[in-house]
Amino acid sequence: MKARWIIFVLVTVAVMFGCEKAVSASQPEVKIEKRAEMSIKKEPFGKTPDGKEIDLYTLTNTNGLKARVMTYGGILVSLEVPDRDGKLGDIVLGYDNLDDYVKNNPYFGCIVGRYANRIADGRFTLDGTKYQLTTNEGPTHLHGGVKGFDKMIWNAEEVKAKDGVGVKLTYLSKDGEQGYPGNLSCTVTYTLTEDNELRIDYEATTDKPTPINLTNHTYFNLTAGSSDILGHELMINADKYTPVDEKLIPTGELKIVKDSPMDFTRPMAIGLRIGEVAGGYDHNYVLNSGGGEMALALRVYEQTSGRVMEIHTTEPGLQFYSGNFLDGSITGKNGIVYKKHYGVCLETQHFPDSPNKPNFPSVILMPGDKYTHTAVHKFYTR
Ligand code: GLA
Repeated sequence: MKARWIIFVLVTVAVMFGCEKAVSASQPEVKIEKRAEMSIKKEPFGKTPDGKEIDLYTLTNTNGLKARVMTYGGILVSLEVPDRDGKLGDIVLGYDNLDDYVKNNPYFGCIVGRYANRIADGRFTLDGTKYQLTTNEGPTHLHGGVKGFDKMIWNAEEVKAKDGVGVKLTYLSKDGEQGYPGNLSCTVTYTLTEDNELRIDYEATTDKPTPINLTNHTYFNLTAGSSDILGHELMINADKYTPVDEKLIPTGELKIVKDSPMDFTRPMAIGLRIGEVAGGYDHNYVLNSGGGEMALALRVYEQTSGRVMEIHTTEPGLQFYSGNFLDGSITGKNGIVYKKHYGVCLETQHFPDSPNKPNFPSVILMPGDKYTHTAVHKFYTR
């Protein structure tokens, strides 16, 4: 009995294997055509006024998405993602040449540091020592001061990972730069993944205690520039925000957004209640995740193109800026005139003025520790 059972099993397996072989042999091998190759291309992008060569890196994934990053300011120059019909469009504001970025850049696409957003009066006290930073917005230190990371030249090297291609940028901010203590060694890696994500990984170490709060200041427009961003439907995972005074410095309060024009806990068009917010949106949101672990910070959907962008981050805060200072005086790539609200900035960060706000999450990096911050921008269509 047992022998017959063994024979039956062996015969069954042989027949199945034979059929499978036969089936596969009869079917022509279906080769999935890749629409593009995952690639990195490096090319010159001009020289700074003092003669420094700037390079431009183009990252392409197999779905045809394309990100271009340059070594001046670590700036994201363009980001082409498909609409619901598969048509690629450049969804970030900027210029098509280096000179314009050097001459007049309201932080398009740049790495911001040492400290994203504002520090009141450019002053803070650390371990009993008072520090005075450079100031570049009246009495305020904004985005790293007079010459922040957006105006520095970053060293670059290509990165090939199994899930994407990237460029790794490094910069050493010397002790005393813009008034900050410590030699701060920074690394920012842009990776374009096969899952249609643009991931930005930030790391830094220091030899003296110092405040740090890096971010990327890209202005997004999911219509690829055919209209402003007031129709973009935004959801932000934050029940609170940090209100600001007349100098856009946080008061220190963590205020509930519920039942106010600041409430984006459910998707809402940016333009629906913007008229109720003096000057437009330019506020730090207190993400419900509290920071530390990767979590969904926001989702933005643009109805005419069908483009959706989600941002996941490890940071506790998000600066939502609705392009209030754009005024039509800048003409960017493809001859698009950047009128008011033509771009939205969604900057993952720690809170503004944290060195002077003991109740905000700490931004002090100690020697021997490592600053890390990740933001993943995921693109798809609806
Ligand atoms: C940040 C600030 C805004 C503005 C932009 C750059 O988003 O919060 O007030 O300064 O940078 O123009």
